[in-house]
Amino acid sequence: MVVVSNVEFDWVKEKKEFDERKTGVKGLVDAGVTEIPRLFVHPQEVIDRYPRAKGAAVELPVIDLTGAESGGARRREVVEAISKAAREWGFFSIINHGVPLETMNAMLESIKRFHELPDEEKESLYTYERSKLVKWNSNLPAQKGDPACWRDVLNVVYTDDHLDPLEIPSACRKEMEEYVKYMIEVREVMAELFSEALGLPTDYLSKMECMKSQSISCLYYPACPEPHKTLGAPKHSDTTFLTLLIQDTLGGLQMLRDNQWVDVPPVPGALIANFGDLMQILSNDEFISVEHRVLSQLAGPRISVATFSTPSIRAAGKPFGPIKELVTHDKPAVYRDFMFEEYFQYYKTKGARVESAFDYYRINK
Ligand code: OGA
Ligand code: NI
Repeated sequence: MVVVSNVEFDWVKEKKEFDERKTGVKGLVDAGVTEIPRLFVHPQEVIDRYPRAKGAAVELPVIDLTGAESGGARRREVVEAISKAAREWGFFSIINHGVPLETMNAMLESIKRFHELPDEEKESLYTYERSKLVKWNSNLPAQKGDPACWRDVLNVVYTDDHLDPLEIPSACRKEMEEYVKYMIEVREVMAELFSEALGLPTDYLSKMECMKSQSISCLYYPACPEPHKTLGAPKHSDTTFLTLLIQDTLGGLQMLRDNQWVDVPPVPGALIANFGDLMQILSNDEFISVEHRVLSQLAGPRISVATFSTPSIRAAGKPFGPIKELVTHDKPAVYRDFMFEEYFQYYKTKGARVESAFDYYRINK
C-alpha cells in the first residue's frame, strides 16, 4: 500500500490497470474523469517546495542568429551572448534560426493529430521498451510509490541522425522528417558557437559527435480537472547535451532560478534551448544545466516537442568526462570519466527519484 495525502491505495494495481488500458492520460480525460486517480497525485510539499516568483514571467536571454554564420558580421557578438547565457542561465531563446514558422506549427499540429488518433490506431506503438526507436506511453514511473505525471508522449529516436521514415506514424511522418532536418542544422550551428564560447576550436563539439543522435519527445499534456494536485513534468534537469524545445501558446513550463519557479512563456517562432547534465559535465561546470518542470493546467491539451541531442554510436563507445582542454591547474576536473551506457543505466535504476546524476560522477563529493 502507498499513502498519498493520507490516502492508502494499491499503487501496483492502479498502475497495472492504467497501463493495460493503453489509452494514456488522454484516455482518462476522454472517459470524463473529474478527479485525478491517486496514481497521479504528487505530494503537495513537493509541488510547493519552491515559491513561484512574483511578477512577470521571465525573459530569457535572446540569441539572434542573424549574421552569426562563420565570418558573419555578428559572429563574435553572438558567441559572447551565448557564453554569458550558457554560464548564467542555462536556458535561452533562439530567434532567426532558419526554421520556418510553418514547419514548427505543422510539427505541433501533427503531434496533436497523432495523440488524438482513435485508441486502436495507436495501440501497437504503446510500450516502455527502451530499445524501441518509436513508441508512445505516459511516462509511468518505474519505482513503486512514485507518482505519474499528467502527460502522454510519443518518442522518436534518430540514431546517428537516421531513422527509417516508415517507422514514424503516418499522422506525423512528413512533418517529423521536415522538422528533424532543421533540428540537425540548428544543432550543427549551435555546436560551433558553443565550441567557440568554450574557447575551443570551432569544430570541436561537432567532431566529438556528442550531439549526433536525436531523441524527440512529442508531448501531449491533456487538460487536467485538478491541476494543483499533479504535474505535467516533475522538477528535473535534462540528461543529455542540448534540448531544443517548441511549444504551443498555452505555457506551463517553469525553470528554477534563484530557488524560485519562474514561468518560461511561449514566444511564437522562437526555439527554447537548454543544456542537459552531460553538457555541464563536458564543460567542467562552465555551462549549466538548470532544473525545470511543467505545470498541469485546466486548459488543454498543451503540445510541445523537445529535441534532445545525444551521442552518436561511435561517441557512445568512448568514455565521457570534462573536456581535457578545459581542465587546468586552477580548475581541476569536477567529474570523473564514465561510459555513456553507465550514465543511462544509473538514471534507469534510480528512476524518477534521482533529480540529477551530478553527484554520482563528481570527484570531490
Ligand atoms: C522535457 C521537458 C518541457 C515542455 O521533456 O524534458 O522539460 O515544455 N519538457 O514540455
Ligand atoms: Ni526537460
